[in-house]
Amino acid sequence: MMTIDILTVAPELLESPFQHSIMKRAQQKGLLTVRLFNLRDWAINKHGQVDDYQYGGGAGMVMMCEPLANAIEQLQKERKYDEIIYMTPDGTTFNQRTANRLSLKENILIICGHYKGIDQRIRDTYVTMEISIGDYVLSGGELAAAVVVDAIGRLIPGVLNDETSALTDSFQDDLLAPPVYTRPADFRGMKVPDILLQGDPKKVEDWRHEQAILRTQQRRPDLLGEE
Ligand code: ADE
Repeated sequence: MMTIDILTVAPELLESPFQHSIMKRAQQKGLLTVRLFNLRDWAINKHGQVDDYQYGGGAGMVMMCEPLANAIEQLQKERKYDEIIYMTPDGTTFNQRTANRLSLKENILIICGHYKGIDQRIRDTYVTMEISIGDYVLSGGELAAAVVVDAIGRLIPGVLNDETSALTDSFQDDLLAPPVYTRPADFRGMKVPDILLQGDPKKVEDWRHEQAILRTQQRRPDLLGEE
């Protein structure tokens, strides 16, 4: 059983993403619990303030130490986190390997930043991992957190069944996934490759592997170390 706690100023943004399909099933099966915490519950005043101007000047607010420290420490009383992750564009770029590794953890806390980000002292004191989902800047860490939780959640042992198995995903063996087809066998003159219709599992497996390599060479030679 994995618990992922998310600390955010915009919990609404994260309410829907985990109520569908595989994420929903993971939670119904009792394999994953996602809990949302509103940082404003730890605001420093009755106006709900959690951010302030940055020292040294410059545009953009910074999320203050106090609400974050108090929130994190209160949550830590309830469970010991294996990782405290801060979502930030200057973090390490997220990939399938990291998703695999995180899917084996028990308790994760994810902190979503807003504005110019969070005070550096919170990063220095509590954060054990900083993750970016790519080289672009989002208006907050929430959508990035949703991406990470989805990628992790589907890998938790027992969440996927045979039909949805992660073993054949792109990246799982450092290859992109091969093309897939369903009925009809002939769509407007475009035919499904014969091998897939013949029903020889060994040949199908070889074909798929070949296609995976071809596709990876064409689209992502970097994955093969062939840049
Ligand atoms: N917050 C803003 N942009 C982000 C990104 N690219 N990855 C993770 N968190 C972010």
